[in-house]
Amino acid sequence: MIVEPKVKGFICTTAHPAGCAKNVEKQIAYVKEQGRFEGAKKVLVIGASTGYGLASRITAAFGMGAATIGVMFEKEASGKRTATPGLYNTKAFEEAAGREGLYAKSFNGDAFSVEMKEQVIRTIREDLGQVDLVIYSLAAPRRTTSSGVTYSSSLKTVGEPFTQKNWNLRDNTVGEATIGSATEEEIEGTVKVMGGEDWMDWIDALVEADAIAEHAVTMAYSYIGPKLTYPVYHEGTIGRAKQHLKESADAMTAKYAERGIRAVVSVNKALVTQASSAIPVVPLYFAVLYKVMKEKGLHEGCIEQMDRLYKDKVYGKAGLSCMEDGMIHMDDWEMREDVQSEVMEIWDRIDTGNLKELSDIEGYWEDFYHMFGFHMNGVDYAADVEV
Ligand code: NAI
Repeated sequence: MIVEPKVKGFICTTAHPAGCAKNVEKQIAYVKEQGRFEGAKKVLVIGASTGYGLASRITAAFGMGAATIGVMFEKEASGKRTATPGLYNTKAFEEAAGREGLYAKSFNGDAFSVEMKEQVIRTIREDLGQVDLVIYSLAAPRRTTSSGVTYSSSLKTVGEPFTQKNWNLRDNTVGEATIGSATEEEIEGTVKVMGGEDWMDWIDALVEADAIAEHAVTMAYSYIGPKLTYPVYHEGTIGRAKQHLKESADAMTAKYAERGIRAVVSVNKALVTQASSAIPVVPLYFAVLYKVMKEKGLHEGCIEQMDRLYKDKVYGKAGLSCMEDGMIHMDDWEMREDVQSEVMEIWDRIDTGNLKELSDIEGYWEDFYHMFGFHMNGVDYAADVEV
């Protein structure tokens, strides 16, 4: 069938298989261009099908030459509905890995469940023995725990409601958005879903099954961002979850010190992904940031970030390169003083009239469409595709 984008606010309800494959191919080509490096050899990526997790998996396979196991939660195509992009991305990834003789297996289902953990760990034991790198890159709206309780995550403030400039993605106007404050239950829910509890469950289960090597590294991703978005992000419900993620990393490193397992959080750059485009206020900041960073030649996408992370800051000459706060900072360029002062100067002036001139909304939308396999060069969108 002919697949066209159907955009509803911050989501696109269709995905193009050939376009998604092209997107994966491009990322693979980038990693290959940067050259091979010594790193992990057997890698488990939880949340491997889109965004940072997909870029991590591509870096592991094509940068480090690693065998990879990926876990994702994606919808299959049915009738006239296309699959979700992560499914097409994963198929394209597996085919490319296969062509180069790289082991790649993927599991589509709920990473929070005990069954998924058992299934993946069994496969690790049978096929790989042990993994030496575990990447935890989930972004999920809800989680059902092993005791059957379902928690939801929310994007709210902790304390007072917060009003800030907001770009309405539906009609490209700049107005204001007010983000309400969370209840205790909503804070707890967000920490349960996006904090480190499930990450620890994975590592505990891997250790128990002897499926993780001594001196293995496990990584999860966080975000801090500028003061401007603190109320909705860093100091909001999601920030609480990220704080829990960091505490969990420290707890795991201490717990498994004898085995030399190190759990580390990397603070990544703000980028358009399915998870981040749902956060109010943030897309306008992204569009301004993209403009400033592109003008300075500092812009990176997920793949550039992940290649640099693993090559320089995890497996580089200096070893694990954490800053004073104990985390790796891939937001180093985003948070540069000159970048942030320009962003803030633009932020104060931006409105509907000058939105196009002062921000990179085109770049934002291009990234958005690319996530769903649209607007990719070299894809014939008029052609029939098998979904
Ligand atoms: P994304 O939405 O592109 O990827 C989420 C991944 O999780 C997908 O592979 C999806 O299939 C998988 N997933 C979701 N629920 C699942 C479940 N129940 N079981 C198995 N897999 C499931 O999101 P993105 O942005 O790549 O986020 C990954 C991590 O990076 C998150 O922790 C996020 O907070 C963090 N991060 C994102 C930044 C951004 O600007 N996008 C910046 C810094 C950190």
